[in-house]
Amino acid sequence: MSFDLVVFGGTGDLAWRKLIPALFQANRHGQLPAGGRLLALARDERSDDEYRAYIRERFAGVDADKRPSDEEFARFAQLLHYRRMDVTQPEHFAGVKRWIEEPRAEEGRSGGRAETVVFFMATSPQLFPVICEQLGRAGLNGPQVRVVLEKPLGHDLASAQEINRVVRSAFREEQALRIDHYLGKAAVQNLMALRFGNALFEPLWRRESIANIQITLAEGIGVGKRGDFYDQTGALRDMVQNHALQLLTMIAMEPPSSNDADAIRDEKLKVLRSLKPFTPESVARDVVRGQYRAGTVEGQAVPGYLEELKVPAASACETFVALRTEVQNWRWAGVPFYLRTGKRLGARDAQIVVNFRPVPHAIFPGSGQANRLVIKLQPEDGLELNLLAKRGGSCSELLSPVSLDLDFDKAFASQRVGGYERLLLDAIAGRLNLFVRSDEQEQAWRWVEPVLRAWASDPAGPRPYAAGSWGPAAASALVARDGFAWAEEQ
Ligand code: BG6
Repeated sequence: MSFDLVVFGGTGDLAWRKLIPALFQANRHGQLPAGGRLLALARDERSDDEYRAYIRERFAGVDADKRPSDEEFARFAQLLHYRRMDVTQPEHFAGVKRWIEEPRAEEGRSGGRAETVVFFMATSPQLFPVICEQLGRAGLNGPQVRVVLEKPLGHDLASAQEINRVVRSAFREEQALRIDHYLGKAAVQNLMALRFGNALFEPLWRRESIANIQITLAEGIGVGKRGDFYDQTGALRDMVQNHALQLLTMIAMEPPSSNDADAIRDEKLKVLRSLKPFTPESVARDVVRGQYRAGTVEGQAVPGYLEELKVPAASACETFVALRTEVQNWRWAGVPFYLRTGKRLGARDAQIVVNFRPVPHAIFPGSGQANRLVIKLQPEDGLELNLLAKRGGSCSELLSPVSLDLDFDKAFASQRVGGYERLLLDAIAGRLNLFVRSDEQEQAWRWVEPVLRAWASDPAGPRPYAAGSWGPAAASALVARDGFAWAEEQ
């Protein structure tokens, strides 16, 4: 499948931090289809060679194992091309069209053209409407074209709907690929494999056997240099509306009828529609927002959020959210789902913990403890199943926890594919399973909006927590109220 990947924002942060390294890795792993090219578009004037030199320089800052050798880069650089682009200028789009349509027999393409054209929007979302409009006008929206959209896709439901309306005016739904990079993480794909490729867990995957589910997306880092962006966003929009809810849908969805994108996305949408809606009262009771103060993370003293660059001194922006929700259907009625995310927490740790119910009748001392399945997203990628067993050789009847630990990083080391690499290859191949459909995205906004509204009219603001902790104490109280505890407190 020969392709042209056209990147708007070709010199921006996203392009060189995520996209180009992912493309390079795909090329290095021999995964990139033959006959591919990348065209970077940005405002300044550069030649192809100047752009290649710019990318070469950027690679110097990348981890050694992800950095190309001179020979590798020389091979990769042949794929890279550059053009100046002012998105308000129709003739610049006409230029891109000519570039795409130029016959290039030397690359072994049938008829000289790429079979697939992927436009990747690595720009500020404010530019999406004008870019989509111009692509449509230039006739760059034919059936072989796909457009990849990166978050933030809107600030609320109305702005998300507006972006979708504009995208739809030029492209069909199946041509618009919304990235949620958490879906590219290996553990998330393994969650599907665990649930629907194995017979073991599915019979237990319901309210009769599961006591509660906890999704934690914890970061050690602060807001860094993104203070101005983050302060307009906050943790609920930045992490919950998208990443945490996508994980929740994968955990809670019914088995899809097939592995087709729409079969999966239909089931995910049903979960989003089943989430218990928030009211002002339930926001006050079931949602905790926090903001970090100075503290210590991994032995390093770090400043508080209000001292960060470009953050207003009196900001009420939340850097932490913990919430309790339920999926209101037959499978999950009454089972609490706890979601938690924050910056400057004790460690970088993303995991989903499925806490099973204890045995109905305990004949061994210690068997009141329950089994637990931990799906680890990062830093490592794996599965841990906590069981109870008798200590070998011990005369005691007491059961002790043991864990069955599957480290996917080790097991599949030679075939590891990074999240962005996976999503990029899927975009080129037109595999839509790991992209978010507009109705899912809008439904997620619909669900978080009452929280945003309740906070906007609540002068109390976020609760402070010390950097390096696990958030405000109220987050523990939220779970303790149901008689449970967060995994690290058990
Ligand atoms: C992004 C958020 O979507 O995800 C960032 O905008 C956050 O604020 C990042 O740091 C976390 O991604 P990961 O893959 O490092 O967990």
